[in-house]
Amino acid sequence: MTMEQRQDHEQARLWNGVAGAAWVELQATLDALFRPFETRLVAALADGADQTVLDIGCGTGATALALAQCLGAGGQVLGIDISEPMIAHAQARTRHQRTRAPVAFLCADAEHHAFEPGRFDRIVSRFGVMFFADPVAAFGNLRRAARAAAQLHLIAWRHPGENAFMTTAERAAAPLLPASPPRAPDAPGQFAFADRARVRLLLEEAGWRDVAITPLDMECRMPESALEPYFTRLGNLGRLWPSLAPDLRERLIATVRPAFAPFLRDGEVCFTAACWEIAATA
Ligand SMILES: C[S@@+](CC[C@H](N)C(=O)[O-])C[C@H]1O[C@@H](n2cnc3c(N)ncnc32)[C@H](O)[C@@H]1O
Repeated sequence: MTMEQRQDHEQARLWNGVAGAAWVELQATLDALFRPFETRLVAALADGADQTVLDIGCGTGATALALAQCLGAGGQVLGIDISEPMIAHAQARTRHQRTRAPVAFLCADAEHHAFEPGRFDRIVSRFGVMFFADPVAAFGNLRRAARAAAQLHLIAWRHPGENAFMTTAERAAAPLLPASPPRAPDAPGQFAFADRARVRLLLEEAGWRDVAITPLDMECRMPESALEPYFTRLGNLGRLWPSLAPDLRERLIATVRPAFAPFLRDGEVCFTAACWEIAATA
C-alpha cells in the first residue's frame, strides 16, 4: 500500500467511524456554530442563479441545502462526501426540507470520483478539502469536473497557533494521556491547508488560475451546555474517547472543562475562527 492509499484508507475509516458518528450526533450544534461560513458561501452566489454547484465534503448537508435554497429552480446542488453516515443524514434532511433548487447527495471520494467533465459552474466547501491524500490530484479531478471559468470557493483553517480554541482540549488533556506524535503540518487533517503558500502552489499545479487566498476571521458561538459534548466527541480527544476508561473520562472532563474558561461569556462559548477564504477560477 502506498502512503497515499494508507492516508485515503485512514480518512475513510475515520469519517465512517468515530468522527462521522460525532458529526451526525452534533449536527445541530455544528451547523449553528459554523453558520457564519455557510452564510459567506451562500452570499457569494447570485440569488436565483440557475447554476450547478458542487459541495465538497458536504457532511450532514447544511451548506448544500442552504445553497440550493438560494439558487433558482433551474439550478442544482450536488453534495459529495466520503462518509456514509453523514450522507445518509444529509439525505434524510432533504425529505423534510424543501429547497428552491434540487439537491442530491453522493457518497464518494471527491479525490477519485469520475465526475462528468465540465459539469459544475461553482465548486464550494466548508472545511471539507483538507483531507485529501494527494491534494494536487484531487484538485485536478475537481478542475476537470468544472466548466471553463467556473469558480472555486473554499473555507479552510489557518494555523493551529491562530486557533487556540481548536487545540484547547488536546493541550489540557495531554498530561493525562500517553504522548501522541506531533501534528505533521501538511498531512491530511483539519490544519493541512494552514500554509497559504503551499495551498496556492497545489491549486496552481492542479490547473486552477487566479488563485486568491485571504484571511477570514469569523465569530463562532454555541451554548455552554454544548461544550462538553463538543470536546468529548470531536477532535483528537473525541477520537480517543470511546477507548478510555470511565474514571479517566471523569478526570479528563474535570481537567479540560476549566481550560475553556477564556472562551465562556454569558452562558455561551465564543471564539474567533481563523480561516482562509480561497477563491480560484477553472
Ligand atoms: C470537517 S467535516 C465538514 C463537513 C461539512 N462541510 C460541514 O461544514 O458541516 C469534513 C468532511 O469532509 C469529508 N471528507 C473527507 N475526505 C473526503 C474526500 N476525500 N471526499 C469527500 N469528502 C471527504 C468528511 O467525511 C467530512 O464530512
